[in-house]
Amino acid sequence: MEEEGEKRTVCVTGAGGYVGSWLVKLLLSKDFIVHGTVRDPSDGKNAHLQKLEKASDNLQLFKADMLNYDDVASAIAGCEGVFHVASPVISTKVPDPEVQIIAPAVTGTLNVLKACSEANVKRVVVVSSTAAVIMNPNWPQDKVKDEDCWSDKEHCRKIENWYFLSKTLAESEALEYAEKHGLDVVTVCPCMIIGPSLQSTVNASTLFVSNLLKEGRESLENKAWHLVDVRDVADALLLVYEKPEATGRYICAPYCIKTCDMVDMLKSIYPNHSYPKNFVEVEDDAGMSSEKLQMLGWTCRTLKESLMDSFEYYVDAGLLNKDY
Ligand SMILES: NC(=O)c1ccc[n+]([C@@H]2O[C@H](COP(=O)([O-])OP(=O)(O)OC[C@H]3O[C@@H](n4cnc5c(N)ncnc54)[C@H](OP(=O)(O)O)[C@@H]3O)[C@@H](O)[C@H]2O)c1
Repeated sequence: MEEEGEKRTVCVTGAGGYVGSWLVKLLLSKDFIVHGTVRDPSDGKNAHLQKLEKASDNLQLFKADMLNYDDVASAIAGCEGVFHVASPVISTKVPDPEVQIIAPAVTGTLNVLKACSEANVKRVVVVSSTAAVIMNPNWPQDKVKDEDCWSDKEHCRKIENWYFLSKTLAESEALEYAEKHGLDVVTVCPCMIIGPSLQSTVNASTLFVSNLLKEGRESLENKAWHLVDVRDVADALLLVYEKPEATGRYICAPYCIKTCDMVDMLKSIYPNHSYPKNFVEVEDDAGMSSEKLQMLGWTCRTLKESLMDSFEYYVDAGLLNKDY
């Protein structure tokens, strides 16, 4: 694709977020020119982007709400590839989930794909989630989930899990759009993402995992957590973009650890923190496999390294204090 000396231009939607920021950093380090979309370029929460290495020369920020087609199309024009990362990550109750969660995820994705068709983009990588994989009551409990497993939309609606529904609808519509319009779309489904953050704001998964480890917690469910490092997610996104043979969806969920094992691991390295003491046993299913992504050549850091970097970031950010 690349001609000698010519830089390649790609777009990253949701560039200022947790995953988006690490992806922009990775792409800049590989000499891509990056069109990054943010909703408000003048907001201080996006200031970290301009401080990334090579950003002054190779990063251009575009103001874009995913619901505004013209915004999205302006950012994508002239790009050979697009990484669609932006989507609302909201796990709390909201007054109007259709407007606040579903529409930005689904209509936002369709706007991105239409703009990609219009701009003759060569490949689109859509960030989905294992939220679009795991909520399937018909999948046998003892069978490892793979890319054939889809969350059941009606079930998500029934239990009012709007985030899971939004990711399932957005990913399935993206793959349908690809089929119908001949656009090259690859999706990646990461599990709960951990690891340090480049931005000053705290994203939902960081808040969730740090909350498990907060000072003064008495008891926790001994659940199995599927975890992946944010830097390894960025690598996976670039890998599926670059490998011509990549196709369809890819689960990105390399590790599974029980709460008490995670606490034991951290306790042996950081003994002075006050950890939860009691663990309530719960039932877990057979988990999921990232084999398809690994077969494509994806490797990731050890869980210990990711947990250590996460823990140190949570401490530095004050997230483990009782009253945060
Ligand atoms: N973190 C995880 O554990 C995890 C796991 C699996 C998949 N994912 C997926 O990874 C992607 C990034 O999530 P994240 O963890 O990095 O969370 P994040 O930091 O909250 O990033 C979400 C990004 O989406 C943008 N966004 C939301 N609605 C938008 C809209 N209508 N128009 C334009 N931008 C919009 C946000 O922009 P603002 O800053 O302006 O709000 C933000 O940049 C999402 O697709 C999420 O579903 C995350």
